[in-house]
Amino acid sequence: ELSPIDTAKLVAARRAAEFVTDGMRVGLGTGSTAAFLVERLGERVREDGLKIRGVPTSNRTADLARQVGIEVITLDEAGWLDVTIDGTDEFDSDLNLIKGGGGALLQEKIVATASDQMIVIADAAKQVETLGAFPLPVEVIPFGWQTTRSLIEETLVTMDVLGRGTSLRMAGDAPFRTDEGNHILDLDLKRIGNARQLAMVLNQIPGVVENGLFIDICDVVVIGHGDGRVELRD
Ligand code: A5P
Repeated sequence: ELSPIDTAKLVAARRAAEFVTDGMRVGLGTGSTAAFLVERLGERVREDGLKIRGVPTSNRTADLARQVGIEVITLDEAGWLDVTIDGTDEFDSDLNLIKGGGGALLQEKIVATASDQMIVIADAAKQVETLGAFPLPVEVIPFGWQTTRSLIEETLVTMDVLGRGTSLRMAGDAPFRTDEGNHILDLDLKRIGNARQLAMVLNQIPGVVENGLFIDICDVVVIGHGDGRVELRD
């Protein structure tokens, strides 16, 4: 028996899986919602003989994809992708996103950007009027990360945001490490007035590798509800 939130994720994932057809190279997202999608695609590979190759956005997703029988290739082997399907932490009415709650934003953004189409799967609770209630993940190089944090804090003063808090993401007693070996700063901004500008300004800071704002990347959001209804936004 699934909880309403898991039902929402499952029905969104199953609907999004219908966008995938034979021969496609598919970017596979990361997180609990994306896991439903990977499992569904695996089911179609095993039961319907669906022929796809998948490019995972994290080591976690690569392991799951192999387990369920999806052929896994690297992004460089694929070159370009037909579609990427991924979860999100927030989306707004322009289909801009905050991602990276699971720490995989860098590979996720590289893979989504290298795709003809990015489809996001989300439960309805992730829709927001203004991005920023969810802390914005920023991936930084470990070298000099505290200096990088100071530069980010200075930058935030000049930006249209409500909050200014920055915290180093931890994994137990040690700083969290991404699949790329980097750290993540979570920015508690509460309300991001100009997400497009913030995304550009953050990436100008030398120690910043990437940030979790996905602007003009997502094409469709498949929204799942706890009662099993699905809506498409594009
Ligand atoms: C992973 O780095 C994130 O971008 C995920 O897409 C996000 O955290 C969504 O995860 P859930 O589907 O588990 O909410």
